[in-house]
Amino acid sequence: MNTVLQAKGLCKTYVVNKRQNNVLKNIDLTVSEGDMVAVMGPSGSGKSTLLYCVSGMDRVTAGEVIFNGKETASLNDKELARVRLDEMGFIFQQMYMMKNLSVLDNIIFPAVKSKNNKETRAQTEERGRALMKRLGIEDVGSNDINEVSGGQLQRACICRSMINSPKIIFADEPTGALNRSSSDEVMNELLKLNNDGTTVMCVTHDPKVAAKCSRVLYLVDGSIVGEKVLGHFDSEEKSLRDRERELNGWLMEQGW
Ligand SMILES: Nc1ncnc2c1ncn2[C@@H]1O[C@H](COP(=O)(O)OP(=O)(O)OP(=O)(O)O)[C@@H](O)[C@H]1O
Ligand SMILES: [Mg+2]
Repeated sequence: MNTVLQAKGLCKTYVVNKRQNNVLKNIDLTVSEGDMVAVMGPSGSGKSTLLYCVSGMDRVTAGEVIFNGKETASLNDKELARVRLDEMGFIFQQMYMMKNLSVLDNIIFPAVKSKNNKETRAQTEERGRALMKRLGIEDVGSNDINEVSGGQLQRACICRSMINSPKIIFADEPTGALNRSSSDEVMNELLKLNNDGTTVMCVTHDPKVAAKCSRVLYLVDGSIVGEKVLGHFDSEEKSLRDRERELNGWLMEQGW
């Protein structure tokens, strides 16, 4: 399997009021093409920071991040922004949706901005609508961002993260604000994407979400202290309940 993302000796230190906070400590990590990685761990352990650092949303303090063969620290801000726009998708909780744009316009925004996109506006809109249909939100395309439900908004985020067919999607608690049935729907969409070949790295507090992932990393106090390999969910070898049982036992051992 090709390596999509690699972190070597990754450290991240924040300085607040002259006090150093070593949030990520010497993290080594390899994500292969087609992986669906869950990142779990206590609140404040550095999960979101890890996602920000490996996705180039934030700069690392030390160490290397290699995405798709490129060392991202050597890229300037503009080059890094292009990599994020063209090759990565993001589903974050503070969803950077624009309030003055409709749901559809928000979804197609990364495609409109991408220099790689040679489509006409109508073609891009058509693709945006097709994605909305796939996620079951085709009726709210012209709604304002604040005129949709939380679950619909989350699905709109998934559409937006997919619009440039990224190599990898980073998701920070994509189901955190949702009830069980919306959470399952969102997760099933991520699984479908993953089955189509998109690599996914996803922070979650929910063992039911993590149980559908192929690997689970456990972060404590800025270090990866454990990894559980569950294999791809579509393998049919184990039922979801078995996976959940296995994962829950392992999480207990990690101190969850
Ligand atoms: N921009 C920042 N500036 C300073 N400190 C920060 C910043 N972002 C995060 N931190 C600190 O880094 C640590 C890890 O935060 P992070 O958000 O990565 O945790 P988390 O594991 O995602 O937690 P949660 O499960 O609550 O979302 C915390 O101590 C936090 O206060
Ligand atoms: Mg977080």
